[in-house]
Order: sequence, then structure tokens, then C-alpha cells
Amino acid sequence: MANSLEGTVALITGASSGIGEATARVLAARGAKVAVAARRLERLERLASEIGRAGHTALAIQSDITDRRQAIEAVERTAEELGRLDIVVNNAGQMLLGPIEDAPTEEWDRMIDLNLKGLINTAHAAVPHLLAAAEDSERGCADVVNISSVAGRIARSGSGVYNLTKFGVGAFSESFRQEFASRRIRSTIVEPGAVDTELTDHLRDGIKEQVRGRFADIKALESEDVADAIAYAVTRPWHVSLNEILIRPTEQLG
Ligand SMILES: NC(=O)c1ccc[n+]([C@@H]2O[C@H](COP(=O)([O-])OP(=O)(O)OC[C@H]3O[C@@H](n4cnc5c(N)ncnc54)[C@H](OP(=O)(O)O)[C@@H]3O)[C@@H](O)[C@H]2O)c1
Repeated sequence: MANSLEGTVALITGASSGIGEATARVLAARGAKVAVAARRLERLERLASEIGRAGHTALAIQSDITDRRQAIEAVERTAEELGRLDIVVNNAGQMLLGPIEDAPTEEWDRMIDLNLKGLINTAHAAVPHLLAAAEDSERGCADVVNISSVAGRIARSGSGVYNLTKFGVGAFSESFRQEFASRRIRSTIVEPGAVDTELTDHLRDGIKEQVRGRFADIKALESEDVADAIAYAVTRPWHVSLNEILIRPTEQLG
């Protein structure tokens, strides 16, 4: 079947909700066996059962990827229990916005530990498996998809450390792309605008209302819209690498 991911294995971090959950469903429907990782095991198990009932294969992995050991374990369990690793979607992330002045710096640590360290540790652990998959798969390539944001391209007042992490994701993805291009690991940065997910639930009171107010009058993206873009990227022939996908709601300006 054209665009099939039959025979491949994908690991998706942050798959217990939002973009990650939708991506797991879409990649499984294309034939990939999926490992779904996050901290909320019950949600992962529910998703894995649903994917299983649809005739596909999913493995739920409880993992807090801010802990390097758990990030490595998530990768190793995927390769061991599903047999290989072809695609990593580094999606887990938090957006804890607010002014720099008087910021609870514990929020900064959480974003740096997850959006940056969690992502780079997962990618690093996956490299040997991805190189092996690129060599021996029918597709002739492997994929790392890193979820950045419009905030990885445009900095705004009140978003300094989130911007820092997402600009960092962009820089790491491009360096990764150059390092592994000749060995056929493709690197794709996905930069969504506003997506209707749980992301803003974790904002402090006051900031939550401000951020939600900014997008109140527009039709936000659904998680499935972003998942479709990810599925498109990883189903191209091996010689086509979608390096960067900026995907905004039609009505979103900045
Ligand atoms: N929604 C948007 O408007 C938007 C726009 C641009 C970019 N993004 C990016 O899209 C990505 C996904 O976010 P989303 O919008 O889908 O939000 P979401 O529904 O809140 O999903 C975030 C995911 O990250 C997981 N996570 C949080 N902390 C974790 C940890 N320590 N270890 C492992 N997993 C962890 C959460 O699961 P657990 O709590 O179960 O661990 C959840 O599955 C993020 O990188 C975000 O920055 C979102």
C-alpha cells in the first residue's frame, strides 16, 4: 500500500493526550506498531487498548522523560518489545508562560527538563536503533520528528523560556539533520500554532485567561490536523525529507 508504515515501529512521547495521542492513532492506522509514552499510565493503556481493538499494535510505556534513565528505558523497551525502532516523535512538552520578572523559576526548570533535556536524551538513546532501521528497512530511512512551535520561530514578551526551549529544539533538529543525513535518518521540525489541547491547563491563573483570550476568536487546530502533517512527513519516499513544517490555524496572525 502506498504511504504504508507496515513493518515499522514508532515511539511517541507525550502520547497520553493532545497531539501525541492523535499521532499515535494516525501512525497506527498507517500500519506502524506504536509505543506510547507519558506519565499517565491509565490514559496510555486506554489508548493502547483502543488501537488494539482497531486491529493494530500499541505498547503503553509509563515514563517521565525528564529523568534521563526513564527516557532511555522508554527507547529500549520499545526496541525490545516491538522489535525495532524506525520513527521517534519527540512531542512531550510543557508551555508555562508568564513574564520573566517574578517568574516561579521552578516552571523554567520544568520546561528545560522536559522540552529540551527530555527531547535530546530520547533522541540520543534512539540513534543506534534508528541507524539500524535506516539500513535494513524497506523504506530505506528512519525518522525523528521534533515538535517545536510557532514559539520556536517568533519570540514574544511573556514567553521567554518557552521560546528558549523551542528555539533550542529547532537548532538541535537542524544539527541532527546534518549529522545523520548521509545515513538516512530524516529530521523534521513541526511548528504548530494554536492547537486545542490540554497544554494551557497547566498555566497559572491570570496567565491562563490571557493566553486563552488571545485565541478566543479563532478556530484553533485540532490535534488530528498536526498528526496528519506528521504522518505526511514520515510517509514520503526516503529521498524526500520535510525538514520543517509550520502549521497555523488559518485565522492566526502571529
Ligand atoms: N497546543 C498547542 O497550541 C501547541 C502549539 C505549539 C506546539 N505545541 C507543542 O505540542 C506538544 C504537545 O503538546 P499538546 O498541545 O498536545 O499538549 P498536552 O495535551 O498537554 O500534551 C503534553 C504531553 O506531554 C506529556 N508530558 C508532560 N510532562 C511529561 C514528562 N515529564 N514526561 C513525559 N511526558 C510528559 C503529557 O503526558 P503526562 O502528563 O501523562 O506525562 C502529555 O501527553 C508540546 O511539545 C507543545 O509544546 C502545542
